[in-house]
Amino acid sequence: MEVGFTLNGKARRLDVPAHWTLLRMLRDIAGSTDVKHGCGEGVCGACAVLVDGVAMNSCSVLAPQVDGATVETVGGLAAGGKLHPLQAEMVMRGGVQCGFCTPGMVLSALEAVRIGAAGSDEEIRHSLAGNLCRCTGYGKIVDAVAAYRDGEAPDDVPADAGEHEHRPEGGGSAASPGVGVGH
Ligand code: FES
Ligand code: FES
Repeated sequence: MEVGFTLNGKARRLDVPAHWTLLRMLRDIAGSTDVKHGCGEGVCGACAVLVDGVAMNSCSVLAPQVDGATVETVGGLAAGGKLHPLQAEMVMRGGVQCGFCTPGMVLSALEAVRIGAAGSDEEIRHSLAGNLCRCTGYGKIVDAVAAYRDGEAPDDVPADAGEHEHRPEGGGSAASPGVGVGH
C-alpha cells in the first residue's frame, strides 16, 4: 500500500507492504539507516523516531500508521554542516561512546526538552527510561541534555564530529558513528 508522510521535512510517498514496520520502511525503502535496529521488540529504544513530535519505537509501529504524519529521525537534525546543539552536547560531554543508542536517545531527549519534561536530572532520567545504553552509565547523557536545555550548547560543532569520537585504541573503527548517521 502507499504511505504518504513527511520525513525530515521532505514529502515522501512510498509503496510498502501493509505489515511492514515503520522501522523497516525507514531503513529499507527510505534509506534512513540512521534509525537503528536493536531488539526489534520495543524494549531498547534504539529505533526511536519522532512521529508528530512524539518519540515512538519505530519497530513497534506499522508503516501505514504514519500515513499523513510528520516523522523526524536523527539524520534530519544537523543543518548547514553543523550538528544540532543537542548532538553537539552529546559529543562534547562524552554522551556518545559506541553510538548505537544515540539516535533514539537524542530524539527522546529532544522531545523531553521540547515538552518541558527535562526540568531536572531526575526528569531527564525518567524521560529517557525507554532508551537503553550499554556504554555510558547515563550520567554524561543526562549532563548533555541538561546543558542543551539550559542553552549552553556550542553551535559550531561540525556535523562529522561524532564520527571521530571515542574510537577504540589500535586503529579500529567504532561500531556505529557517534551521532547516529550510518549503517
Ligand atoms: S529496536 Fe525498537 S525498541 Fe529496540
Ligand atoms: S549503547 Fe549507548 S553509547 Fe553505546
